[in-house]
Amino acid sequence: MEHQFDAVIIGSGLAGLRAAIEIGENASVAVLSKVFATRSHSGAAQGGIGAALANEEEDSWEWHMFDTVKGSDYLGDQDAIETMAKDAPRTIFELEHLGVPFNRTSEGKIAQRAFGGHTSGFGKAPVKRACFAADRTGRVILDTLWEQCLQRNTKFFDEFQVLSLMVEDRRCYGVVAYELATGELHTFYSKVVLLATGGAGKIFKTTSNAFASTGDGMALAYRAGAPLEDMEFVQFHPTGIYKLGILISEAARGEGGILLNKDGERFMERYAPVIKDLAPRDMVSRCIMEEVRAGRGIDGQDYVHLDLTHLGEDVINSKLAEITGFARTYAGVDANKEPIPVQPTCHYMMGGIASDVDGRVVVDSSDTPFEGLFAAGECACVSVHGANRLGCNSLLDTLVFGRRSGMEISRYVQRNDFQKPATDFEKAAAAEISGLMTAKGEERIGDIMADMQEVMMDNVSVFRTESPMKEALGKIMELKGRYQHISLQDKGSCFNRDLLDALELGHMLDLAEVIAMGALFRQESRGAHFREDFPERNDDDFLVHTLVRHTDKGPQIFNKPVTITRFQPQERKY
Ligand code: FUM
Repeated sequence: MEHQFDAVIIGSGLAGLRAAIEIGENASVAVLSKVFATRSHSGAAQGGIGAALANEEEDSWEWHMFDTVKGSDYLGDQDAIETMAKDAPRTIFELEHLGVPFNRTSEGKIAQRAFGGHTSGFGKAPVKRACFAADRTGRVILDTLWEQCLQRNTKFFDEFQVLSLMVEDRRCYGVVAYELATGELHTFYSKVVLLATGGAGKIFKTTSNAFASTGDGMALAYRAGAPLEDMEFVQFHPTGIYKLGILISEAARGEGGILLNKDGERFMERYAPVIKDLAPRDMVSRCIMEEVRAGRGIDGQDYVHLDLTHLGEDVINSKLAEITGFARTYAGVDANKEPIPVQPTCHYMMGGIASDVDGRVVVDSSDTPFEGLFAAGECACVSVHGANRLGCNSLLDTLVFGRRSGMEISRYVQRNDFQKPATDFEKAAAAEISGLMTAKGEERIGDIMADMQEVMMDNVSVFRTESPMKEALGKIMELKGRYQHISLQDKGSCFNRDLLDALELGHMLDLAEVIAMGALFRQESRGAHFREDFPERNDDDFLVHTLVRHTDKGPQIFNKPVTITRFQPQERKY
């Protein structure tokens, strides 16, 4: 079946929906998602969205910008960070006007709370900057934007898996997608495709990410010739529920929760004397692992305690209800009375499809645009998070750059006519599906997936060294070989989960290779990338973005300078 829209958005999380609202004002737009729109992973975001509103205490966008630059370990592009920090207050008021039910102060203003790495006075003390709706902030924003899209008659194609971008000579003409309910192929011709497909946490064994976070958009763009940027920077959130990785929001520490080791010591006081438990995530995750390595994990195991028992039922019920429910359901712990067992969990990809502040995907270090292809949200690398994202900057990123992409796409579709590619992309997609359906190999998708997740978790996570990473890269290549010999158990055309798993696994293997290659290339420690064999940051050689391009000869690495405007790199102390 064929369709035609001015713009096609892949992904129905916050970046995709915010862009859809913008584009829908004067152009036709379709939103394709492999899940039902409101099941997108943005809905799992808990703690808040950052903006220097100064509703609770003095604050300024310059402090927000500085914190984000420092949090990024000076790898974030400062022009992009300035754009985001300046636009944050407007973004919050817009959400308020669209109907987002933020928590309120006693004066009726939007309430704010502290979050890791956010400070006043350029690093002097923690500041309350995260606007929130209890610990369901992503959920309420997603539902609100979705309702706004429905009101504007946005055309949704839910449960459609995109198989390929229709690209010829670095110009995108649309996508071919697979309808999960029927097995039918659909070709969407468009002037623009916006990728807003989120992250890829499922590459790692322990993750806070939803099952759908398999990096599809990143992999599709990469295969189509767009470079991926800074993929070695993978964020581990310090507080996932032990063994499961389910997120216990940083808001818990923002509200006063503390981390304790087996001796009941608040160990973050030793590592970050000024902001303690509210240090940035890369640091807190490493500190937890250091405690475990030193034998100070709880019961000698690889976890610590997050203690909320002193906060009181009122705070817990009004501001942290969701996570205390998770603690009860998944860890069997009543957070009012007992500490929650936590360990670092893969949470966020700082890297992604190289793109600019208006969402244009770029193909080289001179920022030459990829015609007709845009990216926003976690799948994109603008880069505002550099080597380490601060908590509550991710919802902000999706909305600021989702809107800016939408604005630029609206202009782009007015300037450009529809064109069709010479290649029959639907035929190629049909051959790919039929190849998978009829494959008779011995390999099981689940086995390869488990091996990939395990080796990435063991060898390419919080602490990294050359030899285990080389081993991981070798293993990924071996798994890619095994992937050529899979077969599907389900041969049906109605919600074939087996087929979806196979497609997603192919995407994740490509990305795992790029992550491991980038991590090997970067012989320094910066933000979330900590090399035990190169423990210092090395600005002389590595104050650059890593870009990886897919070529016939395999992945090719090149670099791009970091944009530094106001803040020169300094030692990062908290
Ligand atoms: O901890 C959290 O609530 C996560 C927030 C974020 O990743 O920004």
